[in-house]
Amino acid sequence: MTPTRPPYSGLRCIGCGRLYPLDEIRYECDACSNILEVTHDLERLRSDRDGAGWRLLFDSRLGARTGVHRSGVWRYHELVLPDLPAEMIVSKPEGNTNLYRSKRLEEASGTSEVRLKHEGENPTLSFKDRGMTAGVSWARHLGVRQVACASTGDTSAAMAAYAAQVDGMRGVVVLPKGKISVEQLSQPIASGCLTVSLPADFDTCIRLLREICRSRPIYLLNSINPVRIEGQKTIAYETLQDLDWRPPDWVVVPVGNAGNISAIGKGLVDLKTLGVIDRVPRLLGAQPDAAAPLARAHREGYREHVRVKAADTVATAIRIGDPVSYDKAVNAVRRSGGAFISSSEQEIMDAKALVDATGVYICPNSATAVAGFLKARQQGTILPDESVVIVATAHGCKFSQATIDYHGGRLPGVEPRLANRVVEVAADAAALERLLASVDAEASSRKDGE
Ligand code: F0G
Repeated sequence: MTPTRPPYSGLRCIGCGRLYPLDEIRYECDACSNILEVTHDLERLRSDRDGAGWRLLFDSRLGARTGVHRSGVWRYHELVLPDLPAEMIVSKPEGNTNLYRSKRLEEASGTSEVRLKHEGENPTLSFKDRGMTAGVSWARHLGVRQVACASTGDTSAAMAAYAAQVDGMRGVVVLPKGKISVEQLSQPIASGCLTVSLPADFDTCIRLLREICRSRPIYLLNSINPVRIEGQKTIAYETLQDLDWRPPDWVVVPVGNAGNISAIGKGLVDLKTLGVIDRVPRLLGAQPDAAAPLARAHREGYREHVRVKAADTVATAIRIGDPVSYDKAVNAVRRSGGAFISSSEQEIMDAKALVDATGVYICPNSATAVAGFLKARQQGTILPDESVVIVATAHGCKFSQATIDYHGGRLPGVEPRLANRVVEVAADAAALERLLASVDAEASSRKDGE
């Protein structure tokens, strides 16, 4: 009989370090109730290949036309879930998003290198697809029949779309009523998920769902599920690969429930440990002023765990006052020498308009990261000659009302400083002609005045 190979991965409590098997369904530590993370046997992975060997392997899979390596998550299968058999993978495929150089942001901020990793180019139009391909694949491997999440809109869209790919898997999403965009709401409905709307905020939705998952056989696919984080961290892997494995000085990430920044931090540390990169970039976590517990904790020197009641914001997907992955995020940011920052609604929407006008259409949550970056430059936290990657987490098309309201001057408390107004004219050629002539005249007088 051949001896069975020990697993590569397990679960570890981030508080007391207690270990659990990865195939046990659990989200918290029995001993101290802290949240868990997936740990991989990095020594074994290191002995499998050196840093150059990993780079070569991942580069050899770029542009794969068939199989799981087409995915920008499963291209890194060995570092995501090495114990997951490839035939269990549920993929669309996801990832392979563009990394755009932004001349406009470089000029506006006086910074030498600024890039945007546009995760809104994923199949369900947000970065959540990366975590969800991992979470739903693992659920399928465990034989789970029912999956669930609470969501500000993007997690639910992704979960519903991946669960719909698995025969016999049912999904339940719990959403804060009136707090998500109509495009996001349409996604789980379209995918056939049980879609539940609660008259409550996100923090309440997730608390209730966590309680229910303790007594019912439902697999929770919020980012408290550490398997999700493993898929999500490939944003860091792919960004580094896009940059030919040369780390930027900063990675800027919008923060809500704080899973994503924790995942990116973990991914970067993995790469450093395995010798794939030689240093870990600093992390800047960005929040809206309306929901900024981590930015406040940073200002106060992390003296205590900050929870706030989230107020209304255009960045509805990160309208979260009590992030589940708070401790993981604080650890990741502090270990990197980074910071948290927050911005006003005006700053967020102006930052969005600035980037949108370059033809790269981002959402208000992503714009929170852009605004955070601009502020960090002004404050001197980020220096002019540093290189920066900003993670845009969802596509502007998922939040079209915010765009239309800003440009139409209908966002309360926000001046449409960079507005591109819709012009209405009579439906006849002469009226259209007059309009175009006046636009031309305006453009040439602006040019003369330069
Ligand atoms: N950007 C977008 C577009 C999001 O949807 C989210 C989170 C974040 C940023 C923040 O990521 O929570 O990992 O810090 N959306 C979750 C959801 C909460 O339910 O879709 P995080």
